[in-house]
Formats: sequence, C-alpha cells, structure tokens
Amino acid sequence: MHSVRRRPSAFHYALGTMCCALGIVAMYAPSGDAQQMRPLTAGVYSAAQAARGEVLYADGCASCHGVEFEGTIGPPLAGELFLSNNSALPLAAVVNRIQQTMPFNLPGSLSMEQAIDLTAYILQGGAFPAGQAALGEADLATIAFPVTAAVAPAVAADRGSLPPPEGNLAELMRGIAFPNANIIFNLQIRNPDDEPRIDVAQPFDYRQWGTTIYPGWRAVDQAAIALTETAVLYLTPGRKCQNGRIAPVERDDWKQAVADMIAVSQEAHRASKARDFDAFIDISEKLNESCDSCHRVYRDTGGVEGGIGGDRCR
Ligand code: HEC
Ligand code: HEC
Repeated sequence: MHSVRRRPSAFHYALGTMCCALGIVAMYAPSGDAQQMRPLTAGVYSAAQAARGEVLYADGCASCHGVEFEGTIGPPLAGELFLSNNSALPLAAVVNRIQQTMPFNLPGSLSMEQAIDLTAYILQGGAFPAGQAALGEADLATIAFPVTAAVAPAVAADRGSLPPPEGNLAELMRGIAFPNANIIFNLQIRNPDDEPRIDVAQPFDYRQWGTTIYPGWRAVDQAAIALTETAVLYLTPGRKCQNGRIAPVERDDWKQAVADMIAVSQEAHRASKARDFDAFIDISEKLNESCDSCHRVYRDTGGVEGGIGGDRCR
C-alpha cells in the first residue's frame, strides 16, 4: 500500500521544532474530572466580552448562522441542536472550532481573543448569564457544556453494529461522492480508451485532489469522515475478492481490523477538526497499522499491489 506512510524523517525534524515553538496542547482533553468542571450557568463570561462579540458576529457570522442564532446556511448556534452537538464538551471545543475553522469562508482569520468574545456572545444568545469576571483562555478547558440528549433519532436497530454518522451529509458527499463523481464527469472531456496508463512519476496526485475547492484541513476532515463511514462496507457479507474467493468478513481478526480502522479514523476526524497537525504522526502510524493488520494476512500473501493474488482472502 503506497498511500499511507509514516512521514519521512525530514518532516519529523521540522515538526519537532514547530511543536515547541507553538506549544500545541491537546485541545479536547479535559483538564480535570467532571466534578471540577464549572457549568455554563455559573456566569463564565463578562458582558463586555459579549458586547464585543456582538459586533464581530453581526459582521462575520450572522449571514450564515442567523441574527437570532437560529441557523440559515450554517447550523444554529443556540438551542437544542447546538447544545446536543456540544454535549459535555469543554468550552474550548467551541472556541477552538471558531478560531480554527470559522468563518467558514475565511478560516484562521480570527484571533483567540475574538473567538472568545464571539463565544461569549453566543452563550448570551443561549441564555447563559454573564458574570463579573472575563472569560480567559486558561478557563476554557475547565468549563463544560451541559449534558444534552442527542437530537438525532435513535439509530435504528437494523443498522446492527454500524457506527453512528461521523460527518454531516455535505462532508460525506465531499468525501465520497465528490471524488468519484468527478471521475465520471471527466468522461465528458476524456475517453479512457484514449488514455493508456501514463508512466510519469506522479500521474494523479490524490493528496492534492479537490484542494482547489476544499482547501487545507477541510480535505482532511472529509477524508477522515469518508474512511470512518465507509469502513463498514468491508463487512458486507458475500463480497468477493478479485480472485473470486468470498472475503472472510465474519472472522474475528478481520472484524477487529475494521473496528481499529473506524476507531483511528474517528480519532483522525477529531484531530483534524482541532487542526492538530502533530497528532497525525501517531494517527498515520495507527491508520497504517489498521490497514496492514488485515493486509498482512489477507492481501499481501498473494499478488502484488494492483494485481490479482490467488492466495488473497484465503
Ligand atoms: C459562509 C457561512 C458561514 C459563516 C460566515 C460562518 N459560519 Fe460557522 N458554520 C458554517 C457551517 C456550514 C458550519 C457546519 C460545518 C462545519 O462545522 O464545518 C458551521 C459551524 C459552526 C460552529 C459549530 C456549530 C456546532 O453545532 O457545534 C460554530 C460554533 C460556528 N460555526 C461559529 C461561527 C462564528 C462565530 C462565525 C463568525 C466568525 C461563523 N461561524 C461564520 C457556516 C458559516
Ligand atoms: C479487514 C481487512 C482490510 C482492511 C481493514 C483494509 N484492507 Fe485494503 N485490502 C484488503 C484485501 C483482502 C485486499 C485485496 C482485495 C482483493 O484482492 O480483492 C485489499 C486491497 C487493498 C488495495 C488494493 C490493492 C491492489 O492490489 O490494487 C488498496 C489500495 C487497499 N486495500 C488499501 C487499504 C487502506 C489504505 C486501508 C486502511 C485505511 C485498507 N486497505 C484496509 C483488506 C483490508
């Protein structure tokens, strides 16, 4: 498998310096146990912060999230759905999400202070009261959203052991439908018959694929969602391998490899949402291992990559 590789050592060196300069922290790790977390009802931000946030919001957010936080193009930022999306998460999750991924059309343009002011205004809109002290960056990991039941309908029993949706429909479309449909749309201008295999170093760069439309981390979000949600297709009973043998989807080691792949892909999605570049050294290794643990036994025992192995899926 050529697509998943540990970063070359040159990258490790560069990362080492970057890590220390930026002081990247584990953003979703709660700093204490649940008892030490302060509730959002405790007056965790100041009225002055919310007032500053209101100006920013009107300018850069209301067009997509609604003047009353009701959601328009983007999701609502107050009410049931917003609370259930953030159930039990530290406030840091929302602040980082805003700072790193919003405004949707201009991510990374807000300072941490602006993201905190915006969060204060959003909390005010959600009827969480202001307090005396200003909300500081250091407080974000120690304040938690209330536990709120999921708004989505309960997963139907006939879904069996499928994991719940990992991404929204747009992300799933971009992750799976977009690359594959574009391969088909490409037939309008190119006939595959006229295109024998091109032997150049980089005939098609999958890593760059789509990045003119969904740049940077968004492509990584989508890839993580696509891997999470499609891994279950490796468990479809009756699927044949290229050599005609039925894939042994009921075996424990096969199921374990798929479960590992789903778990690490979910981890990749969390890290991608947190724009946590450093986490991906470890995640890439784990993802590679989840693929390899199955390939070692069921693929690489017969046939080269791109070929048909008689001993595969035995
Ligand atoms: C061009 C439209 C657009 C603009 C402008 C925009 N957003 Fe968003 N926002 C979205 C979309 C779409 C999503 C859902 C997809 C995602 O999270 O990437 C989202 C998600 C969010 C979320 C996560 C919601 C949840 O349920 O947890 C927050 C918080 C948020 N935006 C805050 C903001 C803030 C604050 C601003 C202004 C600085 C802003 N957004 C500007 C479109 C927008
Ligand atoms: C549960 C087992 C399993 C898991 C997990 C798995 N694979 Fe595979 N994979 C296979 C088998 C078996 C084949 C051979 C299929 C055949 O010959 O029909 C294969 C084939 C492939 C091929 C095609 C190879 C060729 O000869 O053209 C690629 C590419 C591939 N896998 C990538 C991945 C990646 C990337 C991951 C992890 C993100 C992964 N696989 C996870 C079992 C698995």
